[in-house]
Amino acid sequence: MEKKMAPCDSFLGWVLPKMNLRPEGYRKVRKQVCQRMKKRIKELGLQGFGDYRAHLENNPHEWEILDKMTRITISRFFRDRKAWEELGDRLIPKITRRANTLRRPVRCWTAGCASGEEPYSLSILWKEKILPSFPDAHLEIIATDADPNMLDRARQACYTKGSLREVPPEWIKKAFYRKIHFYCLKDPYRQRVSFHLQDIRKTMPEGTFDLVFCKNLTAMYFSRELATRIFKRISERMEKGAYLVLGNHEEIHLESIQEIRLFDKGINIYRKE
Ligand SMILES: C[S@@+](CC[C@H](N)C(=O)[O-])C[C@H]1O[C@@H](n2cnc3c(N)ncnc32)[C@H](O)[C@@H]1O
Repeated sequence: MEKKMAPCDSFLGWVLPKMNLRPEGYRKVRKQVCQRMKKRIKELGLQGFGDYRAHLENNPHEWEILDKMTRITISRFFRDRKAWEELGDRLIPKITRRANTLRRPVRCWTAGCASGEEPYSLSILWKEKILPSFPDAHLEIIATDADPNMLDRARQACYTKGSLREVPPEWIKKAFYRKIHFYCLKDPYRQRVSFHLQDIRKTMPEGTFDLVFCKNLTAMYFSRELATRIFKRISERMEKGAYLVLGNHEEIHLESIQEIRLFDKGINIYRKE
């Protein structure tokens, strides 16, 4: 006998493609998204997903609320450690040498930066590993996210121990101070990061970049068509020889983006030719 789909699953199967989102990307996080939706249905005094679908059809502004409910905000410092090792050992020194020759700063963008774990990881790596060999080099980190609450938390820069589990202990000692149950980042590691509220589907930061992180966002949650459009625009913002870092298991459909090539399959880093 065919198993009947749970109401939330069948609702997600209907609504996510309509929002240009990718249902497969939500497989591991659907429980969280369903809980948010059930809470919303209760708030509205509706009976279930069928009523909510009718509500959406009659109230266009509800799509914006739904959009917020589909955002997944999980992150941690030095997520996908191997990629960070390659960045610190080889790739960042390479782009730093080039930027130094051109007498300009190294420019990096982290898209979908959540509460700052990714841009601050880069800032810690820069200060602890790159600056000792390149004392005159400068780094600018632009961090963007569509969720203002995430950006508020990023600006506060205080984290639970769990999100630091991949940070080498000596760097925790150097870069953080304790504040009750939290670990807060010290000022010298915060200064080179600026945070901006931006929806990557609509806007991108000005200028061009030597390194772009777009992890666990575009390739994971957006439809193939939307993701390809965004990666094309990202590639226009990349300097020649710049690197693009994706999350583990994410991929770009390269056939429609000529300039970008897979640089290292094991760690999912792409390069602009
Ligand atoms: C799963 S987190 C990934 C965080 C980090 N990049 C990482 O890999 O650890 C995805 C982040 O993307 C943000 N986001 C979702 N939709 C977005 C959009 N359209 N534009 C910009 N940021 C978005 C979410 O608010 C969330 O902070």
